[in-house]
Amino acid sequence: MNVVVTRPIPDAGLNLMRELYNVTVHDDTLMSEDELCDFVKGADAIVSLITEKISDKVMAAAGDQLKIIAQFAVGYDNIDLEAAKKRGILVTNTPGVLSGPAVAEHALNLMFAIARHTVPADAFMRTGKYSQWDPNLFIGQQLTGKTVGIIGTGQIGSIFAQACHNGLRMKVLYTDMNRNERLEKDLGAMQVEKEQLLKEADVISLHVPLLPSTKHLISDHELSLMKDNAILLNTSRGPVVDEIALTKALKANKIFGAGLDVFEFEPKLAEGLAELDNVVVSPHIGSATGAARLSMAECVARNVVTCLQGLEVPNLVK
Ligand code: GLV
Repeated sequence: MNVVVTRPIPDAGLNLMRELYNVTVHDDTLMSEDELCDFVKGADAIVSLITEKISDKVMAAAGDQLKIIAQFAVGYDNIDLEAAKKRGILVTNTPGVLSGPAVAEHALNLMFAIARHTVPADAFMRTGKYSQWDPNLFIGQQLTGKTVGIIGTGQIGSIFAQACHNGLRMKVLYTDMNRNERLEKDLGAMQVEKEQLLKEADVISLHVPLLPSTKHLISDHELSLMKDNAILLNTSRGPVVDEIALTKALKANKIFGAGLDVFEFEPKLAEGLAELDNVVVSPHIGSATGAARLSMAECVARNVVTCLQGLEVPNLVK
C-alpha cells in the first residue's frame, strides 16, 4: 500500500511505515493544490502537515482507495472534515503526552518574555548599550499571585493552567464550551463568561481550535475590555486573533504585550507588528521539542499503520 507524506517528518515515524508500506515523502517546498493532487494520486494514506490544505478535490484526486488522512499536528483546520466524512476517510491527529506540555511550556516562555522584556533586554546587551546597573531599566511585571484567564481548557490549556497555578499561585479563570471539573477541583479554577475573563485576567492564553466560531475571538471589542497590564498569548491558531486590531492595541499600549507563536496571515505578520517592542513573535514552534516531535512522528505512524492493518485507529478526530 502507498503512504504519501506531504513534507519530511522525523525518520522514526517514516521508518515505522517503511517497514510495511511504500512511503513517498515530498520535500519541503510547498505544493499548489494541483501539485498536491498529483502527489497524492494512488495513496492509501496521506500524512499531512498544517501547511497543506486537504480539500475535497485533493481527496478525490487521491482516489477511492484513500483510507486515512493522518495529520502530523494537534490542530487540523487545514483538512475538510465534512468531505472526509462523506467519503468515509478517517482523519487522525497527534495529541500526546509530549506535544501538549511542549506547547504549554512555550506559552509560559512567551508569557515570561513579555512580562520581563526579555527580547528587548537581550538586544540591549548585544548592541553594547549596557553601561551601568540602573534601577529604572526594563521594568516588567511580577506574575506570582496574579490572575490567568484560559480560553479553551483542553489538554494544552489545562497544562498551562496547572503550571500557572502550581508554579506561580495564579488564580485561574476559564471559558470553555464544557465545564472542566478537574481544573475546578485541582486548581480552584472558575468557569466565567468571556467578558469577565477579559476584564479580570492579567494573562490571557488562547487554547482553542480554529473554527468559524473561534475566528477573531479576540478583536477590537475584546481588546478594549482587557486590563492595561494584560498579556495576551496565542499558541493556538493565528486567525483566532484579529491581528490588525491587536497591532493597533499594542501600538497604543492598550495592553501590556502579546506573545504570539501563530499568525493570522502566517507566515506573514500584520503590518506594523514587527516594529513593536511589546510583542514577542516565534515561528509556530509550540511543539518544537525533540521529544514532542519524535512522539508526534511515532503517533502519526501508529495512526496510519492501525488503519491500513484494519485495526482500531487511535486519535480519530470528530
Ligand atoms: C501545531 O500547530 C499543531 O497543531 O500541532
